[in-house]
Parts: sequence; C-alpha cells; structure tokens
Amino acid sequence: MCFFIQTIVVEMGKRKVHRLAEINVKQFVVLGDIMSIKEILSDFPIIDEVDYLNSASIGLVPSTVIERTKEFFIDLTRGGTLTLDEEKEVLVYDGLRGEGSKLLGCDEDNIAIFNSVSEAMNSIAWSLDLREGQVLSTDIEFPSVTYPWLRIARKENIDVKLISAENWCIPIDDLISEIDDETRVVVLSHVEYLNGQKFDIKKIAKQVHEVGGILVVDGIQAAGYLPINVKEMVPDVYITGSYKWLLAPFGAAIAYISKKLCDELEPAIVGWRSTEDMWNFKARELKFAATARKFEYSTSAYDVKLGLAESIKYLRKIGIEKIYSHNMDLIKILGEELGSIENVDIITPENRGSIITFKINGKDTKDVVEKLHKLKRPVELSIRLNMIRLSPHVYNTEADILYFVDNLKQILTKI
Ligand SMILES: Cc1ncc(COP(=O)(O)O)c(C=O)c1O
Repeated sequence: MCFFIQTIVVEMGKRKVHRLAEINVKQFVVLGDIMSIKEILSDFPIIDEVDYLNSASIGLVPSTVIERTKEFFIDLTRGGTLTLDEEKEVLVYDGLRGEGSKLLGCDEDNIAIFNSVSEAMNSIAWSLDLREGQVLSTDIEFPSVTYPWLRIARKENIDVKLISAENWCIPIDDLISEIDDETRVVVLSHVEYLNGQKFDIKKIAKQVHEVGGILVVDGIQAAGYLPINVKEMVPDVYITGSYKWLLAPFGAAIAYISKKLCDELEPAIVGWRSTEDMWNFKARELKFAATARKFEYSTSAYDVKLGLAESIKYLRKIGIEKIYSHNMDLIKILGEELGSIENVDIITPENRGSIITFKINGKDTKDVVEKLHKLKRPVELSIRLNMIRLSPHVYNTEADILYFVDNLKQILTKI
C-alpha cells in the first residue's frame, strides 16, 4: 500500500495544529502512474496556500501550461508575422482541433473552435431554422444555456419549455416524458453548474432522435474529468470551454457538431475563416468549409487556443479516467462527511459530477463563508443561490477535503 504524506496546517480556534495527513486515497496512487502526485501538485503552487475547491467556477492552470501560453503570447506580440505566419495560424487551430477531438472522442472534422461557450451556443442556436415547435431545457440551467433560445422565441413562433426542479434537482422522467413530436431541440448541461446533477446523455439523445429533434449539450462542467465519447453518447452538439475543468486560460471553447447537422446548417455568424480556403479573400464568394470549421469566423486570442490544447494534453497525459476516479472519490468523502453534520442539507443527487452543493439551515451562509475565507489557509468555494458549492479537481487531496470539513464543523459550533 502506498502512502503520500503531506503536512497540513489546521487552524483550530486559536491553536495552530500541524497535522500529518496520510493521504491514502487510491486515486493518488493511480494518478501517480504517469505523473507523480508531487509533480502534479508542483504545477499548482497556490494549493499550498489556499484550499482551492472551486474548479466549477475557475480551474487552476498548470504552471507548465502558463509558461507555454505566455511564451507564445510574448513571441507573437513581439514578432507579429515572424512568429505567426499563415501556416502557423492554421496549425494553432488544428492543434486544438486535434486535442479536442481526442478529448471528446470524435473526428477532427467535427470540431469547431470558439471563444466561449455562450458564443458557441448562440452560433448553433441561430444557425438552426427554428420557426415553430418546442425547445426543452430546465429551470435551473446556467443562463447561457437557455438565453439564446429565449431570445429566438421573441422572434419566432417557438415555445421554450423549462422543466421544473424539485428540491433543486431535475426529475429525469419529467424531462424524458416531455419529449414529443413538437420537440425540435433539447438543450441542457451534461453536469449542472448549480447542483452537480449528471444527466444520462445517451438516454436523452435516444428519445430526442426518436422524435426527429436534436440534442445540444453544454459540457463545460464535465469535460476535463468526466470521460466523454460523443460517438457513444450521440448528442448532436457538445460544447465545452477552457477555463474550468479543462484548466486553461479564459477565451477558448470547442464544440463537437455531428456530421449530419454540420452538413445541414449554414452558420449564422460568418467571417473570413468560415470559408473553404480562408486565404483566397474573395469578397463576392461565400463558400463554406466542408467541415465544422465553417462555424469559425475570425482571428482570435491564439495564445489561449494553444493554451487550451496544452491543457487538454496535460489532462490526457494523467488520464481522464483516472482523474474521474480521483474526483469521484473526493466527492464521496465530501458527501459522507457533510452528511454527518447537523443542519447541513446536501442538494446534490447521487448521480453527480465533481460538484457538491449544500444548504446550511438556520445559519447565515455568507457569515460561514467569510470565516472560511479568513482562515490561515483560506477555503476557496462558491456561493450559488445562498448555497455552498464545492468542486474538487485533480490538484486536490483528501487532506483538502478534511481540512474544509474540520473547519466547517468548528465554525458551525461557534455561530
Ligand atoms: C454550464 C455553464 N455554461 C456556460 C458557462 C459560461 O461559459 P462562457 O463564459 O464560456 O460563455 C458557465 C459558467 O459558469 C456554466 O457553468
């Protein structure tokens, strides 16, 4: 049995207690197959100072990826076309396309590169010829998932139906039973940002396809730790973004677009990059690229696109399956520990991603979080709708989870 020993400092009342936490989580042994846990943690130095449990908000970027991105940015800004000639401009995008296709389990031709998830979602939504019928989603979705369709509904005769959450979770049977001949689009997150609920994409896709609709999935709270294979899950569109679980800087997103949909659609947002030969600059001729590349349209922050490719490479080197097992073990420990604390009410269902959200009954959530922020080693987390959301990732250990739980218990006894 292999043990990784880490010294952590726990602030208990006024006493500082140095505790040797034996991290015997099997996942660290597993993660260590290719990169040792020490190597991984050394890429995220802030973890020594902060108990960072907030990857559902912003993920930490590995030092090695920061260096590569920075280096490229400096070379490009100093060297202009000496650094980025036409060939290299294509190569940066193709590099990300290649990594994106491996991450999502599809062909490179089905990957389009965007700057954000909201941009990708709008581009797809406005490209569909939606004049009537129903768009189905849920009422606890992240706004960028529902807003493009609500906006289209102001212009076209479509009905956007949002399935209601019960106790902050979406009853999957309610969603499935709502899919009928009227349904044109089902759009939802693979893992919900608010409560971590994970949806069975394959099951939903089957139902949507039976009625001739399409399934659009926002995977920004899943890709980076959840193994994804779009050829098995068969959504029509699967979008994800750089700056959360994929551990890359802001400003990049990728979308899988099925070949059928790609062949059928004319992109709503277009520009010089959308065409078959982007270097021919023929103002009169709009001939789209034959692949998902037709949804790309402009120059962009190339350093970030390169950074995202590097981050995906980094995560794949460790292994997405291994990261999944690691994160799920941490979430399990969190669930068990939180479940034993009086007045703590977990809203996250068992079928979940790497997110746990809970309410604290009878206490002021902001007050509790303020105290967690003021610890010698602060706990970083999110408050969402007056609930606490925790989202551990590859750089967290069991010690991080126990440190948070110990301190939460202390705080709750005092206020
Ligand atoms: C589910 C979901 N979709 C989209 C976004 C935002 O993506 P972007 O900022 O890339 O548009 C978030 C951010 O929290 C999110 O949780």
